Amino acid sequence: MSVKDIIFESIDKQGVAILPPMDVFDSINLLKTEQIHVACTMLDPWYNKGKGDVLPTDEYDAFIQQLLENSGEISDLLYLWGFPEVIGPYVRYAPKDFYMVSWLTWYYKNCPSVIRGWRSSQNACIQFMRHGYALHPEHFLNETQKEKFESGKMRFVPGPPSVIESPLIIGFVGKKEQTGHPSQKPEAVFDKLLLMAMADNQIVFDPMAGSGTTGASATKNGFRAILCDKNEEYISLMENRLNVKRISI
Ligand SMILES: C[S@@+](CC[C@H](N)C(=O)[O-])C[C@H]1O[C@@H](n2cnc3c(N)ncnc32)[C@H](O)[C@@H]1O
Repeated sequence: MSVKDIIFESIDKQGVAILPPMDVFDSINLLKTEQIHVACTMLDPWYNKGKGDVLPTDEYDAFIQQLLENSGEISDLLYLWGFPEVIGPYVRYAPKDFYMVSWLTWYYKNCPSVIRGWRSSQNACIQFMRHGYALHPEHFLNETQKEKFESGKMRFVPGPPSVIESPLIIGFVGKKEQTGHPSQKPEAVFDKLLLMAMADNQIVFDPMAGSGTTGASATKNGFRAILCDKNEEYISLMENRLNVKRISI
């Protein structure tokens, strides 16, 4: 069986394929070698916390640029997450044949104030898209609007707001979704991103999937997912969360 067949066997049975732990560039390269093209790639790396305190800024810039370019070779739409002050410069980093479509904000009110100054209440997400690829605002219509849309009577399709409000789930006990991953995003936020990006049954790839939020959101909304992370512990976390075993390749 080819690696591509093994991946699709898992996707066909369970809606999700979890790859064994590997570096983001290796998993992107694996999809490229296996000629697996996906509709959407979710890029949610560890963040430089503002002033290069994870990696020197030049190195982080080069990492993000490479990430976008390589992901652009295997997908039609990219989401890049980070703190606004960190990813701000990357609005100009659209890979070849792509353009920057939107700056999205996830707004949460419930972050405890631990520093003097502004209390962090937002994460940003840049959406890049291949020229000619179409978004799916029709996924956000109510039943009456849908009928109008399907009968061709809707002159324009109203879209959802680009600021998505949903509480932070990390650090708060008692939240159903919580897995213990230190940077877990709420499904409510990823639901909107995936619904806008994909047609039914299309595939989203998340090479730094952490707790597997992309997989949870994809299966809930009628999409399929390929997930990976370089950290063994997080691969186990997503296996448990999604009730899907990683593939062996
Ligand atoms: C911000 S978290 C992702 C959180 C995820 N969106 C969620 O909701 O659970 C970043 C993840 O990227 C992974 N990661 C960081 N660098 C990586 C690399 N070079 N290759 C693969 N995974 C990486 C980390 O292990 C971590 O789980």
